[in-house]
Amino acid sequence: MVGKKSGSVDTLLIEKRIISPPQSFRENARINSRKQYEEMWRKSIENPDEFWGEMAEEHIDWFKKWEAVEEYSFQDDVFVRYYRGAKLNASYNCLDRHLRSWRRNKAALIWQGEPLEESRTFTYLQLYREVCKFANVLKGLGVKKGDRVSVYMPMIPELAIAILSCARIGAIHSVVFGGFSAEALRDRLLDSKANVLVTANYGMRAGKLIPSKTNVDLALAGCPDVKNCIVVKRVEKDCNMVEGRDQYWDDLMSSASPFCEAEVMDAEDPLFILYTSGSTGKPKGVLHTTGGYMVYAATTFKYVFDYRDEDVYWCTADIGWVTGHSYIVYGPLAAGATSLMFEGVPHYPEPDRYWEVVEKYRVSILYTAPTALRSMIKSGDHWPLGRDLSSLRLLGSVGEPINPEAWMWYHYVIGREKAPIVDTWWQTETGGILITPLPGCISTKPGSATLPFFGVNPKVIRQDGSEAGVNEGGYLVITKPWPGIMRGVYGDPERFKNTYFVQYPGVYFTGDGARRDEDGYIWLMGRVDDVINVSGHRLSTAEVESALAAHPKVAEAAVVGYPHDIKGEGIYAYITLKDSVELTEELRYELTMHVRQEIGPIASPDVIHFTSAMPKTRSGKILRRILRKIASGDIDQLGDTTTLADRAVINDLLNTVN
Ligand code: WT7
Repeated sequence: MVGKKSGSVDTLLIEKRIISPPQSFRENARINSRKQYEEMWRKSIENPDEFWGEMAEEHIDWFKKWEAVEEYSFQDDVFVRYYRGAKLNASYNCLDRHLRSWRRNKAALIWQGEPLEESRTFTYLQLYREVCKFANVLKGLGVKKGDRVSVYMPMIPELAIAILSCARIGAIHSVVFGGFSAEALRDRLLDSKANVLVTANYGMRAGKLIPSKTNVDLALAGCPDVKNCIVVKRVEKDCNMVEGRDQYWDDLMSSASPFCEAEVMDAEDPLFILYTSGSTGKPKGVLHTTGGYMVYAATTFKYVFDYRDEDVYWCTADIGWVTGHSYIVYGPLAAGATSLMFEGVPHYPEPDRYWEVVEKYRVSILYTAPTALRSMIKSGDHWPLGRDLSSLRLLGSVGEPINPEAWMWYHYVIGREKAPIVDTWWQTETGGILITPLPGCISTKPGSATLPFFGVNPKVIRQDGSEAGVNEGGYLVITKPWPGIMRGVYGDPERFKNTYFVQYPGVYFTGDGARRDEDGYIWLMGRVDDVINVSGHRLSTAEVESALAAHPKVAEAAVVGYPHDIKGEGIYAYITLKDSVELTEELRYELTMHVRQEIGPIASPDVIHFTSAMPKTRSGKILRRILRKIASGDIDQLGDTTTLADRAVINDLLNTVN
């Protein structure tokens, strides 16, 4: 750690420290008084029509204005509608409208490849032309408004181009994270009923080539409806191409026209589907629509990151996750920002790769994840201290609770006390940031996401639905909608209602635990359902369990999360084997590889604990509470074990602790 100031971070269990926005930052901030924030927030809640009407006018170009701003019901027939009757196009807002201003030749996208010397920059005009070309390519393949196009790609510019092209012609994009396995890709392709897949021959990760197209071929073997597969040559290397189905991106683009009229979309026409894990094993296709999502992405981007035209903004997320959708592509580009897109990882070729990128492009706003910070802390301060980070003026965090130690490190070692930190809480379902400090006016407390964004009214409730008291933990719910909220689960309307609006009728149930302190600050306490957060990636324990249970040697699997130094949560799998199976070390490896193949490397169990039986109730329900305690090492506090059918199981489990 640097200096004396951060010497005490390890002991900050109950975080009392308050850090005010640095004076130099506050002076020039968009919103620099708590009073102004409160007035705007109050208006956004009391008069949402006026507030979101103004935001819509200010941040988005419309082909036709709305008849009503906010309409919804969170009871019975749940629905949400913003900007009824209004028309717009998301790609038009990210591209065309900047061409009329000086931004025409401003860098829209700076792409930094994993190889140090590989980079490409697209001005707004250049990006517009590429997007129009690819939109024409899609049209040429017969893609129409409302069709689903799946995208399975590494972090290369063609990924951003592909999704903006879909938006341009009204096709619904469904990006599948490039780290997912063939099986996971297949399931998502089938669920979204996509006919077209855009991919790359290879991906690049920490100096190694990832055979993306091989995964695609495996997936497509189970997806007869995918008639066209477009392959970007990320590296000059051949890959298998299936005659009549697969075509190279460059071949199609070479003859495409760089002009393509943007399709006129209704505010509530779908923009994209993005799969995320819920408490069951089946991933949910979270559906976002056009008008409200765009207004929300642009508004949050501007205020949360205190965005200025001269900023160089870098969000390190992958576009395969919602963070990349909203805060690499749609939010920043709608705002006319320069958005940096990075293909690499924090530790390759050296642990200062992020800081090398910051120094090279003079990044002013950095938005990253606690897991990345923790892994870099481990490598030592000399890496960031050896780089010029003076361009950084604002730092953001997302994906999981940021522990005070990582927060302080971010503040001192990276921000050098000059850059406020915004710890932003949100979800795939919320479309954009819901709880966050505004950097010029809200004092921060390390580990707290602080206060709600405009239009967001959070509440912490007890199990019985009543409001929790000060510092009393409970469930985080949101009492009214905001424009970016999801509109449904693709192909499964009942699941939308049942997941988010049934447990506590009338409010949106986030699935997170939280408490509100004496200043009204919100502290997130992790999921309250069977969702775990591994390195900021959301996984359901049921998903990993069903992958394990599908292995021929496994009788039963139970998966829980446990605290992990770098990943936030690790994956701890309890396994009982079929009777005749012999327990060997190789089996552990075999099961790990099996999960990687079924879901992807992010789902690899960190611990596999073989046991002869699971702790179950008399009705046969696995007592996960006990499994969680054993996994976290809290074996002295197993709690009530009286409901167990067979208490001897506990001893057996403890005797085999890994
Ligand atoms: C879950 C949503 C939203 C972008 C990335 C994750 C956890 C997210 C924070 C934060 C505490 C956070 C929550 C949430 N989470 N950000 N700043 N502090 N927890 O999106 O994959 O949909 O996961 O991530 O548990 O419910 P996601």
